[in-house]
Amino acid sequence: MRCAIFASGQGSNFQALVEAFQGLKSEIEIAFLFCDQAGAYVLKRAQNLHISAFQFSPTDFSSRQDYEEALVDLCQRHHLDYILLAGYMRLIHQPLLQAYPNRIINIHPSLLPNFPGRHGIRDAYDSGVAKTGVTVHIIDENIDQGKILAQEAVRIDPAWQLEDLETAIHTIEHQLYPQVILELVRKEMNHGKSIN
Ligand code: GRF
Repeated sequence: MRCAIFASGQGSNFQALVEAFQGLKSEIEIAFLFCDQAGAYVLKRAQNLHISAFQFSPTDFSSRQDYEEALVDLCQRHHLDYILLAGYMRLIHQPLLQAYPNRIINIHPSLLPNFPGRHGIRDAYDSGVAKTGVTVHIIDENIDQGKILAQEAVRIDPAWQLEDLETAIHTIEHQLYPQVILELVRKEMNHGKSIN
């Protein structure tokens, strides 16, 4: 299965996915990184990890539609099976959703449906809940609402600062995301085999 990773920032999940899939090329291959932010640290990580990277943003196009169509074209040229969002800070719209139905996966740093949106970790921390966590889900047209594939909880120690919770969440993400994707890919490969 061929995947691309879309990211906008630090790229710690990008790196965790690349490292987890190293040596599993017969099952899963990272075809490229797409980043919409010039100068994002994830681009440096791609260079260090020898993963091809593409960078452009909506401002390079005359409309958002053209931007998304350029993305569809990029993905189709690379014969992708899945798109993995890893801190990609834009909504996914119709041209891509239509081209990859149920094949765009996201990781979100809360137990959805609680704390959707951009600040899932901080919102949970500020609300005083006893636990939060990580969700891996399929993307659809509604923000942070697609089918949930997996969730893992973390208990918030009352002594923790926000940074402690961020560290705990990222530690879970880096292990859970590759694991869920690998399970998905293996399930699909085995399903294919049993049909033939
Ligand atoms: C992660 O917390 C992820 O859940 C969210 O954005 C963050 C990206 O972090 N969607 P990184 O860029 O992978 O370090």
